[in-house]
Amino acid sequence: MRHHAWGTDPEGVYRDWLVQKCKGCEAVAEVGVFAGSTTLRLAKETEVPLIVAVDHWRGVPRDPTQAAIYRDLKKTRKLFHSRLRPWILEKRVRVLEMGSPSAAIRCHEWGIKFDLIFLDADHRYTNTRRDIRAWSGLVRPGGILCGHDIGWPGVRRAVEEELPRSWMMGSGSTWWSFIQ
Ligand SMILES: C[S@@+](CC[C@H](N)C(=O)[O-])C[C@H]1O[C@@H](n2cnc3c(N)ncnc32)[C@H](O)[C@@H]1O
Repeated sequence: MRHHAWGTDPEGVYRDWLVQKCKGCEAVAEVGVFAGSTTLRLAKETEVPLIVAVDHWRGVPRDPTQAAIYRDLKKTRKLFHSRLRPWILEKRVRVLEMGSPSAAIRCHEWGIKFDLIFLDADHRYTNTRRDIRAWSGLVRPGGILCGHDIGWPGVRRAVEEELPRSWMMGSGSTWWSFIQ
C-alpha cells in the first residue's frame, strides 16, 4: 500500500523497526496512518493496550508533489477502518480523525502520556517542526519520539533543529530520540 515516492527504504523495514520499538509499551500514537498498514502491524504484532491513530484523511494539502498518492482518500479512510475494525471496536485502537495539532490537544485533555509517538504525517519543514513541538510534550519521560522519512529535507532540518544532539537514525529511513 505504501507508495514508492514516500521513501527509498524497502517496504516493511521501518515497520519491522517500529514493531520492535513498541514491544512492551503501554500507549503509542501514530500520527498519519493513511491506509493503516503500520497500525495493523502494531495491532497484530504487539500487545500495546492503547494505540492512538491520527489522520484527517486529507493528504498533504497544497503539496502538488504528493497529489497522485492522495488521489482517493475516501477509499483510503474506508480501508483503514475495515482493516482495523476489530481493534477499534475493542477500543485498543482509538482513531482521532482530525489535524495533528488538534489531536495533540485532545491527547493532552485526556491526560495520556505515550511511551512512543511515531510521526508520519506532513513531511514539510514547518509542519514537521510543528508536529515535533506539539507531540514531544506527550511522551513520558524516557519515552521515544520518532518518525519516518528522515531523507526528506524538511524532515531532516526540523529534526536537527528541534532535537539537536539527541536524535538518531533508526532502520528504514526512521529517526528517533529519547524525550527527557
Ligand atoms: C505518509 S502517510 C502515512 C503512512 C502511514 N504512517 C504508514 O506507515 O502506512 C501520511 C498521512 O498523514 C496524513 N496527514 C498529513 N498531514 C496531516 C495533518 N496535519 N494532520 C493529520 N493527518 C495528516 C495524510 O492524510 C496521510 O494519510
